[in-house]
Amino acid sequence: MRSQYCGALNASFIDQEVTLCGWVDRRRDHGGVIFIDLRDRDGIVQVVFDSDSADFETADKVRSEYVLQVTGRVRARDAATVNPNMATGEVEVYGANLTILSAAETPPFPLNEHSTVGEDVRLKYRYLDLRRSEMQRNLRLRSKVTNAIRNYLDDNGFLDIETPILTRATPEGARDYLVPSRTHENKFFALPQSPQLFKQLLMVSGFDRYYQIAKCFRDEDLRADRQPEFTQIDIETSFMSDEQIMAVTEGMIRELFKDVKEVDLGDFPRMPYAEAMEKYGSDKPDLRIPLELVEVKDLLQNIEFKVFAGPANDPKCRVTALKVDGGAELSRKQIDDYTKFVSIYGARGLAWIKVNDLAAGTEGLQSPIIKHLGDEATLAIIERVGAKDGDIVFFGADKSKVVSEALGALRVKVGHDLNLLTREWAPLWVVDFPMFEETDEGGLTALHHPFTSPACTAEALEANPAEALSVAYDMVLNGTELGGGSVRIHDQAMQQAVFRVLGISEEEQQEKFGFLLDALQYGAPPHGGLAFGLDRLIMLMTGSESIRDVIAFPKTQTAACVMTDAPGAVDTHQLRELNIQLRKKESKPAEKSE
Ligand code: AMO
Ligand code: AMP
Repeated sequence: MRSQYCGALNASFIDQEVTLCGWVDRRRDHGGVIFIDLRDRDGIVQVVFDSDSADFETADKVRSEYVLQVTGRVRARDAATVNPNMATGEVEVYGANLTILSAAETPPFPLNEHSTVGEDVRLKYRYLDLRRSEMQRNLRLRSKVTNAIRNYLDDNGFLDIETPILTRATPEGARDYLVPSRTHENKFFALPQSPQLFKQLLMVSGFDRYYQIAKCFRDEDLRADRQPEFTQIDIETSFMSDEQIMAVTEGMIRELFKDVKEVDLGDFPRMPYAEAMEKYGSDKPDLRIPLELVEVKDLLQNIEFKVFAGPANDPKCRVTALKVDGGAELSRKQIDDYTKFVSIYGARGLAWIKVNDLAAGTEGLQSPIIKHLGDEATLAIIERVGAKDGDIVFFGADKSKVVSEALGALRVKVGHDLNLLTREWAPLWVVDFPMFEETDEGGLTALHHPFTSPACTAEALEANPAEALSVAYDMVLNGTELGGGSVRIHDQAMQQAVFRVLGISEEEQQEKFGFLLDALQYGAPPHGGLAFGLDRLIMLMTGSESIRDVIAFPKTQTAACVMTDAPGAVDTHQLRELNIQLRKKESKPAEKSE
């Protein structure tokens, strides 16, 4: 139906007759001359009709978002009307023939300007929202990325193998989405939180190098960078060390950035987990921001003020400072806002000292806290963090987790607020993760997942599980965890030791993971891998604020689809077939219980 894409036209087409198909982005009537900006996935071009045009009358009828076929001649615009902001701005199409292929109602929100309309409306009419150039750009880049990844992995000998969606639970730390079975009464499938166990079994089968661009499902609290249904670039290899796995996957990301964004990320530095937590309060530090946390615990152990002396003498606590260069300019209101900000992470306060004139000793400092700390401790803190005139020092004291999260988040926020970012891209590997972390109930849970190989023997692991490190690695880019993986356990005895530490009984091991334990007995090669979050990768590459902006049909923050109205009610007949009876909820009568 068409000879060219609208966005492809330029001066080289002058005097050619072209046929275009697309949507009316904008129509302007200048009394006797009608201008139509015609849009397709490649861009926009201006089409002009005047009273000499054969289909001038039809052009008069079209409205925004009508679908047209236009035939006309490409001509140069007058110098005065060249539009440098438009890729096709040097030319226009003088339209002779026009067919309306489809009429359109006025869209519920304008598509040709940055719209302030609420996201719910955008998602309800997602097919319209996706016409906007920003969304077109994002999904095109996504396609380019998956294509480049497939090429890279194919070139490196990886096989694309699909794994089931209807399966058993894979523990990745979230709740499962369950699917009732009709043929097996009272039994449920779980949708995979990742293909983890299947990819390990593929290694036992000898496929050696596997990848899949895989859908994963996790029923967890949603945030700007999380979706209940998301996509992983999932990778597993046999007979490769952690170093080799990191090298091949780092190579993939580096090549991708070069191909798609013309950015050279360079070699990724490595940082042990313990260092990341100490200096950045996070296991995914944003290294674009040149601020670091500094421990001041030892300086406050002997002061009177209990708010700081308490945590300073408690091994489960941190007392940590954050110096911000030039931060003495911050107003009282800004400091109050930061105090409110850290309270989200459970911090009970945010102490601060402004350095106005260091030469004058404590006289040259401004702070509500000096009177509590005393001069000696105050000056010792200032010296430890290396503060100079014009700086501010924030500090917090609390349980280690609270201080790390609060000051770690404050570091990132202040860094952005004060425009302190030193570069555009800061990738790194975080390594040497602990095997386990403590749960709120005092038990242990796998920090990565229970199939991750410890960096010690089974005996050492069981003797002192809290201290054990794992052979796991995360790739972090600009403060986002892009991907994570590990070398796996390929020995049944070690796998059972980990299950024991996690308090998973023999029966439960057999019931949940019997197939894996069996497989480990039949010649399991040493293996390991990693999975990247594709959506997060695209978010970073497009500079999108929300993961929903890089997914064609995403779910809302409450894990629903407002366009199709999913999840939806199910009729009684279907429920009976599944042997399911719904419980009526007092607070939500009638809703889903017919
Ligand atoms: P993990 O759970 O760390 O590891 O997930 C790997 C990567 O997937 C992305 N991701 C998400 N993206 C969007 N929405 C979510 N809800 C979401 N959850 C995770 C992140 C994360 O780094 N099987 C292991 C990998 C392995 O060991 O090989 C796994 O799934 O970018
Ligand atoms: P107060 O005397 O309780 O008003 O506290 C004095 C200062 O200490 C205030 O600026 C508080 O924000 C700060 N503060 C109180 N508790 C903490 C804490 N746990 N960590 C950091 N600062 C705190």
